[in-house]
Amino acid sequence: MKLKVVEDYQAMSRAAADLIIDKVRMNPEITLGLATGGTPKGTYQNLIKDHQLNGTSYGSVKTFNLDEYIGIPIRDPNSYRYYMNTYLFDHIDIDKSNTFVPRGNAENPTEECVRYENSLLVHGGVDLQILGIGRNGHIGFNEPGTSFSSKTHIVSLAQTTREANSRYFPRIEDVPKQAITMGIGTIMKSNEILLLISGERKQEAVKRLLTGEVHESFPASILNQHPNVTVIVDHAASALIE
Ligand code: F6R
Repeated sequence: MKLKVVEDYQAMSRAAADLIIDKVRMNPEITLGLATGGTPKGTYQNLIKDHQLNGTSYGSVKTFNLDEYIGIPIRDPNSYRYYMNTYLFDHIDIDKSNTFVPRGNAENPTEECVRYENSLLVHGGVDLQILGIGRNGHIGFNEPGTSFSSKTHIVSLAQTTREANSRYFPRIEDVPKQAITMGIGTIMKSNEILLLISGERKQEAVKRLLTGEVHESFPASILNQHPNVTVIVDHAASALIE
């Protein structure tokens, strides 16, 4: 893993956006794997700014999102489709029909998992996957104990994850209990991975990722075995390893 330590959240967001912009310019037909959550918001803002100022085009780019809640409508502001439209897609020249997010409201979520995994294959897989990390090491919604070879599947969210995500919902009871997520095996098939980590709350996760063993009890640890991973981490998150 290539580790890049930067000053703060803003610097992480700029560095991540610069890397993504370079890749998009080099390969305008790139397939990006995208994450939601607090971490990549600043990166997406920088992509939008660059699109407006420098005209980087997403006209031929495809995107596949990592995950989506089960049981909330697409138009719900908490759906990840809504998040992607709001924080990125509505502000760049991407063709929305080239943006893929698991359909959390599919009639048959199990079939939706198979369809999503196949759709990824049909489109040639992810070239560059952007990831955040949970404090318990989750990537996507792959909680501790998930098989390293898992494909897109349905997950029950850990209580800690529901608590962390409850900041976006009126009440913790409103946080969905299930989601569809790309599996760890799916993520590991990406040609390249960009993992973004910011803030004091992630210090233990950074330490475990960089110094701990590769084990299913800490899903992100498998990234140590991927040949092309860049981790951009800010000082607040890297304090225990500096
Ligand atoms: C989001 C996702 C999650 C988040 C993780 C960190 O699509 O897959 O794994 O990346 O929960 O969330 P934040 O960035 O809010 O700390």
